[in-house]
Amino acid sequence: MLTLNINGKDQELDVPADMPLLWVLRDVVHLTGTKFGCGMAQCGACTVHVDGAPLRSCITPATAVSHGQKILTIEGLSTDGSHPVQQAWAELDVVQCGYCQSGQIMSAAALLAKIPQPTDSDIDQALSGNICRCGTYPRIRAAVKRAAGMG
Ligand code: FES
Ligand code: FES
Repeated sequence: MLTLNINGKDQELDVPADMPLLWVLRDVVHLTGTKFGCGMAQCGACTVHVDGAPLRSCITPATAVSHGQKILTIEGLSTDGSHPVQQAWAELDVVQCGYCQSGQIMSAAALLAKIPQPTDSDIDQALSGNICRCGTYPRIRAAVKRAAGMG
């Protein structure tokens, strides 16, 4: 048995020791907002926060984050879409197909928690591992600035 703190709640889970956190989140806990893209840490679709830092859940065994660390998924960012990053995303209509966007939002939220007024270079660096095949990058950058109160 594994105890994971997910979105503020401890959950006792009976999962194989080597199961990636992404599988636990999606298939066991049924939090499907976090997406499976490449499965090899190349696209960022599976990004969640662990103790506030972005983490690729597809390559992280759930057992690696079971020691009292706090896991935050897109569902836990806010209960009603009121997180400033979610609001900015909606205001600037960032999303195209949407598949990459929960990962983008989680990386952006982690960036702004660490650097409230990021430069273009901070944004590019923080989001460089989040791939968007729809090419929404200019809107993502604008929305990060909007969420930071800079645009
Ligand atoms: S699914 Fe994890 S980085 Fe692509
Ligand atoms: S919005 Fe389609 S992949 Fe990013």
